[in-house]
Parts: sequence; C-alpha cells; structure tokens
Amino acid sequence: NKKAFVFDLDGVIVDTAKYHFLAWQKIAGGLGIDFTHEHNEQLKGVSRVRSLDLILELGNIKASEEDKNQWLVQKNDDYLTYMATMDESEILPGVVRVLQYLKDTNQPIALGSASKNARPILEKVKIIHFFDEIVDGNDVTNAKPDPEVFLCAARLLHTAPENTIVFEDSVAGIQAANTAGMTSIGIGDAKVLHEAQYVFTDFTQIDTKFLETLVNK
Ligand code: BG6
Ligand code: MG
Repeated sequence: NKKAFVFDLDGVIVDTAKYHFLAWQKIAGGLGIDFTHEHNEQLKGVSRVRSLDLILELGNIKASEEDKNQWLVQKNDDYLTYMATMDESEILPGVVRVLQYLKDTNQPIALGSASKNARPILEKVKIIHFFDEIVDGNDVTNAKPDPEVFLCAARLLHTAPENTIVFEDSVAGIQAANTAGMTSIGIGDAKVLHEAQYVFTDFTQIDTKFLETLVNK
C-alpha cells in the first residue's frame, strides 16, 4: 500500500522553541509575568493565539481583544527578527538524511504544522523542495490535538490515514496523529511522548531499516 509521510516543523525539522521562548518572554516580561523554560515546554505545538491565552492565564490577566491582538503582532514581529537569522545550520540532526531517503524512494511528503511561518522557515533553511504539500497554521481552523492538519495533509497526498506516518515532537501532535488513525512517531523524550507508537530521541536514531519497514508495512 502507498504510504505518505507528514512532518511537523517546530521541534522536528528545526529547533525554533528557543526563538518562540525569547519572543514570548518579552511579552510576558512586559506584563510582569514570570515566563520560564518549563512554561515554554507546555506551548510546544500550541497555536499562537492559544499560547498567548495560556501566558495570560499564568499571570491571571484578563485583557481586551485589542490588547491581545497587539501582543500577538508584537510577538510575531520579534519572532520574525530571529527567523531572519535562520539558515541550514538550524536543521536538526538526521532530518535531511531521512527526507532524502523518502524522496529517493518516491514517498509522498507533506508538512503538517501549526505555524503560520512554516513556508518562509522551510525556504530559509532550504528544504522546501522536499515537500509535495504544505499544510500550516494558515490552512486549518482546529489546532492540534485536533487531527485536522494531518487529515488535510493525507487528503492532499491522496493517501488514507492508516497509511500515513506522522513525525511529531509535541504531545498534542501525537494525539492528533493517533486520533486521525495514523502511525505516530515521536521525536524527543519517550516519557513525555509515551502515547506515540514509536519514539526516537532524534532522527539520527532512525535507521534505513526502520524506514524500509514503514514504507513496506
Ligand atoms: C508550533 C510551535 O509549531 O507553532 C508553537 O510549536 C507555535 O510554539 C505555533 O506557537 C504557532 O507558530 P507561529 O509561527 O504561527 O507563531
Ligand atoms: Mg512541534
């Protein structure tokens, strides 16, 4: 059966959490909220709007829609300045090798990300050519753990969910893949990602034999 492979972006292909952290910390700091790395962990895979709401909850702050929109713009403007410095060196270890294997064996490949900055990031790190389809935060209305983003990617790749394999670093993303009936592969800490069908600390741990079994499953 024909397979399809869907990759999350942030934390799977590139390590952008550090930039999201700095940008959110500036907003939180301005509001007198102590925003730590631990808090940032909980924002992985979470949409921009929802992330702000969680930060405001942290500080017990009720804000108007107008204020919130202004902070969302500020946060992204700041994030864009970090993005401007990104290049191929930001690609996480082993990612290109796996993408190249899938390309060489003619597997359909899509991106399935919550980020509205996905396309410019893929362009900046020069791997956009690997992707047959890109589904990102501009295309979906329901954020992960809702399976919308992955179901949309599978549909665009003309592949049934049960033949679709998802690489994800967030709990919400693994849940989304599982709910969609797809094969979920966690990239990161096995304890955190225990709901995934397979977990690897990073792509260097995924060997060709494992990729072969996925393709031929
Ligand atoms: C997810 C990240 O992929 O995208 C989150 O893990 C981020 O940290 C979300 O908030 C939305 O990204 P962006 O680029 O649209 O603000
Ligand atoms: Mg992610």
